Amino acid sequence: MTIEFIKKTGKIKNIDNLLYLIQLYTDETISIEIKREIVSSIGRQNDLDIIYDFIKNNVFKKNYMEVIYQMYRTTLYKSSDKRFKLLAQDICVYYDNEVLYKMTKYYNYKKNKIKSTLVNKLSKPLLLCGDNKKSLKKLDKETINLIFTSPPYYNAREYSDYSSYKGYLNEMKKTLMECYRVLETGRFIIINISPVITKRPGREFESTRYPIHFDFHKILEEAGFYFVDEIIWIKPEPSVPNRIGGFIQTKKPLAYKPNCITESLLVYRKTSNFLLDENIKKYQNMSLDITDNDIERSNCWYITPKSNKDHPAVFPEQLCEKVLTYYSYPGDVVLDPFAGSGTLGKVSIMMNRTPVLCEQNNKYIDQINKENKYDIR
Ligand SMILES: C[S@@+](CC[C@H](N)C(=O)[O-])C[C@H]1O[C@@H](n2cnc3c(N)ncnc32)[C@H](O)[C@@H]1O
Repeated sequence: MTIEFIKKTGKIKNIDNLLYLIQLYTDETISIEIKREIVSSIGRQNDLDIIYDFIKNNVFKKNYMEVIYQMYRTTLYKSSDKRFKLLAQDICVYYDNEVLYKMTKYYNYKKNKIKSTLVNKLSKPLLLCGDNKKSLKKLDKETINLIFTSPPYYNAREYSDYSSYKGYLNEMKKTLMECYRVLETGRFIIINISPVITKRPGREFESTRYPIHFDFHKILEEAGFYFVDEIIWIKPEPSVPNRIGGFIQTKKPLAYKPNCITESLLVYRKTSNFLLDENIKKYQNMSLDITDNDIERSNCWYITPKSNKDHPAVFPEQLCEKVLTYYSYPGDVVLDPFAGSGTLGKVSIMMNRTPVLCEQNNKYIDQINKENKYDIR
């Protein structure tokens, strides 16, 4: 029994084939892939009464969710018949499953044929001064095509001082909610973050290590984004603080503290009812002019960090370059809500994107606009 055979049988719409497929479905020995294809082929047949009975009798029985998804798909596409519409609702209530909800949204979106169009683009670099939770309100919704940023790592640097970790996450969530509003539907937000350790208040106390990147997952989801990828930025070992020295001397188990040479780039997408292809289609055949060898093939990017005399935590330009290359098109508007020295802005201009930067510290604002390239608001 092959997938091709099932497909062929399903394509010819007659009662014999439909009954044959239903009988095949009962065979306990067939693989999950074949079963899935049988259900899909049954859905393509015409006899609504038989198809309805088949789904109703099988969809609430224990089965692989992949098979259930196919049954649900049929109920959606046949929902102009009231029985299927009601059955679809029952399936959703019964399983309370996120994929089923996503399928429903997508189906409704397709049915209503809502066309997405290119957003009105800003054409001049823009610097929004002050707290980003307020300054981002100056932007219209959906005017940004990509967000790449590195927020304060809780209280790791002098420019950040939050009264508690909970309060910090709460503030970050408010900024992410504004980011959600200004980002075009279906586009990416990429957050560079990693765990931090804060200083011990005294020798008798343990230091606290905060897994910020794990906690960002929750607030990104609450703001309306969904997880796509995690890219690991790997630095040369000599460029990071040495934590392993003590262990090398004592070699005592439990006291092991590896050197942390990685940071995360959390890649999330703004929830949309359509597939990424629809975002891509707007750029009419534009593609990258790079050789296969120049493409980052894995989610581990080896990049040396940069230091800057005026800012303690800057992006290496190469990191911005890669993010802009893989997640935006020339002409796009890109936002860094925690701009610092404005590295993303600088690289964006070089790569023919329009940057929108937010920064609240006057010292860094002056640094960003020292060449007067930005409109200030
Ligand atoms: C990690 S640094 C970003 C560095 C930047 N990636 C660069 O290449 O220079 C974070 C920056 O966010 C700024 N910041 C923190 N909270 C902010 C807020 N609520 N609104 C605007 N800027 C903020 C800080 O002043 C700091 O410069």
